[in-house]
Amino acid sequence: MKQIQVLSVFGTRPEAIKMCPLVKELAQRPEFNSMVCVTGQHRQMLDQVLDIFSVRPDYDLNIMKERQTLASITTGVVEGVAQVVEQCRPDIVLVHGDTTTSFAAALGAFYQKTPVGHVEAGLRTYNRYSPFPEEMNRTLTSRLAELHFAPTQRNAQALEKEGITQNVFVTGNTVIDAFATTVRPDYMFRDPALGRAVEQSGRLVLLTAHRRENLGRPLEQICDAVLALCDKYPDLHFVYPVHLNPAVRETVFARLGQHPRILLTQPLDVAEMHNVMARCHLVMTDSGGLQEEAPHLGKPVLVLRTETERPEAVEAGTALVVGVQTQEILRQASRLLDDSAAYERMAQAKNPYGDGQASRRIADCMLAYFQHKSNGEECL
Ligand code: UD1
Ligand code: UDP
Repeated sequence: MKQIQVLSVFGTRPEAIKMCPLVKELAQRPEFNSMVCVTGQHRQMLDQVLDIFSVRPDYDLNIMKERQTLASITTGVVEGVAQVVEQCRPDIVLVHGDTTTSFAAALGAFYQKTPVGHVEAGLRTYNRYSPFPEEMNRTLTSRLAELHFAPTQRNAQALEKEGITQNVFVTGNTVIDAFATTVRPDYMFRDPALGRAVEQSGRLVLLTAHRRENLGRPLEQICDAVLALCDKYPDLHFVYPVHLNPAVRETVFARLGQHPRILLTQPLDVAEMHNVMARCHLVMTDSGGLQEEAPHLGKPVLVLRTETERPEAVEAGTALVVGVQTQEILRQASRLLDDSAAYERMAQAKNPYGDGQASRRIADCMLAYFQHKSNGEECL
């Protein structure tokens, strides 16, 4: 069989963190020719990840604009990806998850009649506006894709409910694979402030919040809950790497910028980030990826959203959806900080997102798919 030409397309930080392990896996297997196209939907936060994984893109659409709109990301990516696909003629285009890069890249590939493989397929809240626009992005990407790599059995069942039953593979989540590159017991922090934060004797909370639906009032309420927690617990310290979105930074720096026990940092590279997470007491976040990573590291997660497409972590007992109201966040966080038995139960829960072998499984499934195809068989 001839080498399978794979074009992986991604553009934001979380896609890069979850696709780089797969890109590395494909690059080391002789059956594949691995090519990478980045959209640059995130510029600095994407490049940080590429550096850590030493991935050099073959194509860079460089589309990011300050305060970009969903429409401008979509049109830039559809056009750019369609051109790249026309140029390099891959056998398959891989996209990841639920960003606008993912959906628009899948559409651009579809317009070139090129099969799309969707990594991290089948996550759903069934609420089209939450998370926004991710729920719609991933639903539409499922319609466009021909291969679906679902992290969990539940994700595969969600696809089945939508009539997507062919070429669905349960693989685990590639985010767990990334830890092999990043987390080290003897890790030395490059940022001295971070080193001090993890070494201080109090309890450290790792905090992130950036979602579009949390911008404005919800993010202010989250910040107020953080201030209230600092008042209530004098041993509590926060590290908050603040997303580069100006709409996030304005609120966060205005509300939390002056507190001596709240360290606001630039976005951390993923090695610094994972190693802070491995050493913190608790994670509070509205991020998708952190809900998968923290359980693997045995850290309870308070989810600063009204719902989650990752109920596996909630069912496994590692995550709790606490919403975006100041008093409710305060109440739920206090319970974990006051009740060591409740804390231990969450910290010991099992991670449902895989064993660090998802990239290998995805590569195996693609190989089997193309072998069947070259034998004239319809599908797996
Ligand atoms: C995007 C994804 C979201 C994902 C998040 C991860 C969409 C619509 N949203 O949201 O699903 O959870 O990434 O972080 O796909 N910026 C920079 N430099 C960077 C990155 C961002 O300056 O490296 C600023 C720019 O002003 C940009 C703004 O942040 O316009 C927003 O970026 P954008 O990708 O549109 O939205 P995110 O909220 O990051
Ligand atoms: N992350 C990082 N540096 C940071 C904040 C997050 O490397 O300063 C990592 C985090 O560990 C996870 C991913 O970025 O792997 C999550 O990205 P984000 O929260 O931006 O997006 P989401 O997962 O919500 O789509």
